[in-house]
Amino acid sequence: TSVYVFNGPNLNLLGTREPEVYGTTTLADVETMCREECEGAGLELVFGQSNHEGQLIDWIQEAGAEVQAGRAIGAVFNPGAFTHTSVALHDAIEGVQLPVVEVHISNVHRREPFRHRSYVSPVARGIVVGFGVYGYVLALRGLRHAITAG
Ligand code: DQA
Repeated sequence: TSVYVFNGPNLNLLGTREPEVYGTTTLADVETMCREECEGAGLELVFGQSNHEGQLIDWIQEAGAEVQAGRAIGAVFNPGAFTHTSVALHDAIEGVQLPVVEVHISNVHRREPFRHRSYVSPVARGIVVGFGVYGYVLALRGLRHAITAG
């Protein structure tokens, strides 16, 4: 059984981008953390990052099909700035009924007002905000419990 971790725009810069906000951990480090968490849980991790909205939509549709086929449990998703802009990502998640845990490294609610709205939250199974990169591990754990324990 697989689980997906998708990352949106600029998260490839993690580690060097505004370290006072996002920390110094790189996205490769995040992938390693997620891989360890999944190994312990007997899940196969598929990890991706894209700066392109359309690529993220394609991945969500593919993940939705894998969940429907019983081969995956869902996705952890940090949509980056597309969180605050993308009706298309909202519709993709809703359209394929993909269980998604939305993750934000920073606490978006104590930042600028334009980060307070999320188009993804209304279609998310759960949300993890403000715990740094550890939020990815919490989200994987939460998703697994939500899906396997009902
Ligand atoms: C982010 C928060 C977003 O507002 C921002 O555009 C990002 C990262 C976070 O993980 O804290 O790119 O999703």
